[in-house]
Amino acid sequence: VRVITGLAAAHEAVLSLRKKGSVGFVPTMGALHEGHASLVRRAKRENRSVVVSIFVNPLQFGPKEDLRRYPHTLAADKKLLMKAGAHLVFVPSADVFYASDFQTTVEVKGLTRGLCGRSRPGHFTGVATVVLKLLNLVPCDRLYLGQKDYQQYRVIAQMIKDLSLPVEVRLCPIVREPDGLAMSSRNAFLSKQERTSAAALNRALVDAAEAVRSGARKGSEVTARMRSRLGAAPGARLDYAELVDAESLEPVVILKPGRTVLAAAAVYYKKARLIDNRLIGVKR
Ligand code: PAF
Repeated sequence: VRVITGLAAAHEAVLSLRKKGSVGFVPTMGALHEGHASLVRRAKRENRSVVVSIFVNPLQFGPKEDLRRYPHTLAADKKLLMKAGAHLVFVPSADVFYASDFQTTVEVKGLTRGLCGRSRPGHFTGVATVVLKLLNLVPCDRLYLGQKDYQQYRVIAQMIKDLSLPVEVRLCPIVREPDGLAMSSRNAFLSKQERTSAAALNRALVDAAEAVRSGARKGSEVTARMRSRLGAAPGARLDYAELVDAESLEPVVILKPGRTVLAAAAVYYKKARLIDNRLIGVKR
């Protein structure tokens, strides 16, 4: 697998890959796990070449967040990417990626007001900005994003639509540990007890789906179930547990038959904030 650090060199390499056929792109922040590998494998099935970027984007971290602690595991990442079948890895350094006079950002408004946007002000502007810049440097046919960051997926898809970017977005399923915990680079920050407790996140979402399946039609009824499960998880402090429309991300008051809703939750542990979600179809 070829590793490129320069911006112009990456752009040139992607253009020459594209001459040979379609390019799938998987943007990441490194500390790769099986969830990322599944994105690369999917991209490989659907494209001639796969490009992966590894860049811990300072713009999407708040002043009190874990930028400095964010894990860097480049050697292991390269191995995983080689095995998954990536062709090219773009690993820019922060000072080259953002020149000292960098001053342009992209803001997606409505979709970023709730859920993670509420507790992480500026986060999605950092995400939209870096992804737009990455798409300029890595002109791809298809962009692969994981469902674990569902709000991020909606924000990026909206930006792509609003700005008429010629790229297709593919949303890929969450990969889970045997106890249901969604894979995340941040799981490494959990203590042993917290790791056990963290399975409650997925259980809360299963509870939500179960409540809807058995006929709950009030959003508040469903979120109460989620909150009670998360409230019982040792060491977890609730950030949010919500039921929102899967497209607009607006809170759902009454569940309408035929619609798809998103149950989403975030909890804080001592050194990590974890998120998870589940798409739920409402029966007609
Ligand atoms: O999901 C991530 O790892 C990041 O938010 C992304 C999309 C690579 C942008 O930095």
